[in-house]
Amino acid sequence: MKVIIGTGKAGELKDDLLVIPVSLGSETAGAVRELSAEGKRAVARRVKMTAYKGSSGARLLVQLADRDVLLVGIGGADDRDLEYLRRAAARGRAVAGEVRAKKVAICLSGAVRPERVKAAIEGFTLAGYRFDRYRSGDKSSYAGPSRLTVNGTRLKRDAASRKAVSEAGVACESVALVRDLVNEMSSVKTPSYLVKTARSITRGTGIRCEVWQGKRLQDEGMNGIIAVSAGSAEPGAFLRMTYKPSGKPRACVAIVGKGVTFDSGGLSLKPAKAMEWMKQDMSGAAVVLGVMKALPALAPQVEVRGYIAAAENMPGQGAQKPGDIITYRNGKTAEVLNTDAEGRLVLADALCVASEDKPDCIIDLATLTGACMVALGSSVAGILGNDQGLVDELIAHGDQTGERMWQLPLVEDYRSDIKSSVADIKNIGAGYGGTITAAMFLEAFVDDVSWAHIDIAGPAFAEKPAPYAPRGGTGFGVRALLSYLAKI
Ligand code: BES
Ligand code: MN
Ligand code: ZN
Repeated sequence: MKVIIGTGKAGELKDDLLVIPVSLGSETAGAVRELSAEGKRAVARRVKMTAYKGSSGARLLVQLADRDVLLVGIGGADDRDLEYLRRAAARGRAVAGEVRAKKVAICLSGAVRPERVKAAIEGFTLAGYRFDRYRSGDKSSYAGPSRLTVNGTRLKRDAASRKAVSEAGVACESVALVRDLVNEMSSVKTPSYLVKTARSITRGTGIRCEVWQGKRLQDEGMNGIIAVSAGSAEPGAFLRMTYKPSGKPRACVAIVGKGVTFDSGGLSLKPAKAMEWMKQDMSGAAVVLGVMKALPALAPQVEVRGYIAAAENMPGQGAQKPGDIITYRNGKTAEVLNTDAEGRLVLADALCVASEDKPDCIIDLATLTGACMVALGSSVAGILGNDQGLVDELIAHGDQTGERMWQLPLVEDYRSDIKSSVADIKNIGAGYGGTITAAMFLEAFVDDVSWAHIDIAGPAFAEKPAPYAPRGGTGFGVRALLSYLAKI
């Protein structure tokens, strides 16, 4: 889909569908005023007839002689909130599908900041994502709109607008990659599939891609990945990708992703229902790949190192057993009392390596605990860390990108919950506060580096459609991280 900037009046546009966000009480204001006299009359008539109110999400489709006009309510939102615009644009995309529009314009009014252009494109594009690799039959002749115009009489076709358009495109492609990876079935997306994907997105970009598999994993003492992979026919893998900017980097950021390509629980087997969506357990790793993919195009002036700990958690022959002890490459030992608390076991390896590489900060993303979903539900991620400044910054970027995070504390009193009687630490807590004890396990492998952990167990995967994501992987985290990397 081509995306262009329009600067004329809405009434002069030739698109099949004009999407006009309107606020409560101003249903015939905004870009509606830019329509032709006939268009204005038709909209005013329908608004009156249907008693349409621009409350949040409410839509009104008015069919003019040669095009459709869609009003999308944004309620009382003010235009500093970009999320309403993403959601309104997403409604526009849904209607575009219904009326099979080829050319669509989103008509904004007033002063339009580049962030709003970006938000409109993101909402529209992301809402159009489909995963139909495995659908037979009617893939339909309509492949979605071929062109989107973001229109505004006060918009300019200047460098800032062009940058917004291209950044939105890059971000949406990364989100689509993450969604594709998460939605892919586990029997296909094994750890070696993640390796292949990493190689293909880094090839020819200057991003260095190091892969540790087999004997190299052993030599490097990546014993968490090895232990979790032991019950699977699929060997585990570790990835380190390094992006260096052309100039002197302003900072060095490490991002670490949990890449459990299927989580059966291992010998501490999950019940069937809990396993249904466990193909999503590599969402953190997918976000790391999504971010790495975007870097060459966005070219932030920071060094970014992406680490992925990939393993399949199965209860097969040779599986690790409750009571087993893992010795990590930093010398620490961990008693495995529940093989279903495997995410922290593989992440510990990656956090050791990331810490040894001495970045300015480490951000890890993981579908780590069901407890986080209990606490925050499915649209908000948990965030914990040892550096309040870093946590605050990530939360602020997430607020901007519509990826909400809520901080949970690291609680010194709970440290005793993960004390082991035979090793340095054990991999489960006392029952309550599971997100916190999981994070505190991870903290033990972060060596004196500023660190934030984002538990994306809830928002990584939408069991029912989200505002601009269909059912399935959402790509949660990618846009917040890209926004953070751009602003350091
Ligand atoms: N991958 C799961 C966490 C999860 C649950 C992610 C639901 C997404 C949706 C993780 O490996 C896990 O199984 N955690 C256990 C930890 C427990 C055994 C201490 C959990 O949350 O039950
Ligand atoms: Mn598990
Ligand atoms: Zn897991």
